[in-house]
Amino acid sequence: MISYQTIPTSMNAIIAVGHGEVDVLQKQNIPVPHPNQGEVLVRVMAAGVNRPDIMQRKGLYPPPAGACPRLGLEIAGEVVVCGTSEGDGKILPHGSRVCALTNGGGYAEYCVVPIGQCLPWPKGLTAVQAAALPEACFTVWSNLFMPTILPTGTRVLIHGGASGIGTMAIQLVHAFGGEVYTTAGTEKKCALCKELGAVAAINYREEDFLSRIRALTDDMGVNVILDIIGGSYFNRNLKSLATDGKLVIIALQGGAKADQADLSRIMTRRLTVTGSTLRARNKANKICIAQDLYKHVWPLLEAGTVIPLIHAVFPLDRVADAHQIMEDGQHSGKIVLEC
Ligand SMILES: NC(=O)c1ccc[n+]([C@@H]2O[C@H](COP(=O)([O-])OP(=O)(O)OC[C@H]3O[C@@H](n4cnc5c(N)ncnc54)[C@H](OP(=O)(O)O)[C@@H]3O)[C@@H](O)[C@H]2O)c1
Repeated sequence: MISYQTIPTSMNAIIAVGHGEVDVLQKQNIPVPHPNQGEVLVRVMAAGVNRPDIMQRKGLYPPPAGACPRLGLEIAGEVVVCGTSEGDGKILPHGSRVCALTNGGGYAEYCVVPIGQCLPWPKGLTAVQAAALPEACFTVWSNLFMPTILPTGTRVLIHGGASGIGTMAIQLVHAFGGEVYTTAGTEKKCALCKELGAVAAINYREEDFLSRIRALTDDMGVNVILDIIGGSYFNRNLKSLATDGKLVIIALQGGAKADQADLSRIMTRRLTVTGSTLRARNKANKICIAQDLYKHVWPLLEAGTVIPLIHAVFPLDRVADAHQIMEDGQHSGKIVLEC
């Protein structure tokens, strides 16, 4: 490990003092962490805020064993203590500008990250934009495009199209030739989803998405659904799928239990029901996603075909405001902290 500039011994970081509302978030001065073999220390310039952070703050999404217990799943910044990756021996030198999927601890001035979870900061993007990429890109890519890229013309329903995840999912599916259908909670958010590439956006507060999907697809249904609602949408999701369709559940905002679901549709339509959480994936899995993103998505970001949509930027010590805005749900796209 080589230190390239004087690293302070302590740093500002956001600590959740217990679980609860936004007032549990406190700025504290804590020791700067030390990277181990296969890791780098990054001076954080910006950190993305994600819905899983809100759930962790509330005690509903505990960090996995061995992960940093502090908040912050994605960052952009500069490598200040370089390291060598364990697998291929590649060196990520100091001064490299990276964005990274962290294992926690991104809401801070410095953060330790496994080298394989770092990607180069895409050319032309600001630190704020780069910090808004990892969580959405890793999640969308791994759930919709791995192990195989969606065939052109695939009809994909993306629930919560105006979310941080949704705005990236719409753009990526559209960029790869898919036909995007989406749900959102206001007309303004629906209009945004269409601007980003959706052929139809359904205001789920005004109309039933199942009837609309059936009407929009000549009763065929969609081939894939990226779902963040879970239980309360399960039955309607199954009924929205075409034969051989796939339901991918990545969050349970509508509950973990699905009563009265018609499971016969899974058999008669040969449906696949799956899901995942990014945080629980192991390091090798995350590295594999990072490599795939670099190959397939980074060129689109550098060409400006896909852009991270930023709703608001807050200084680190206004993290409570950032969390409150996300909880109030008026935002579209990403909320980012400047560190
Ligand atoms: N499994 C994973 O690996 C993983 C990783 C990251 C995030 N996630 C999940 O992905 C979701 C989005 O995350 P984010 O960070 O992008 O959060 P976010 O921007 O706060 O998005 C939450 C979204 O949920 C939408 N929503 C709420 N109720 C809905 C309903 N009944 N129908 C359709 N949409 C509804 C909201 O839309 P309106 O405002 O229009 O109501 C909002 O856009 C969260 O549930 C998060 O937990 C999962």
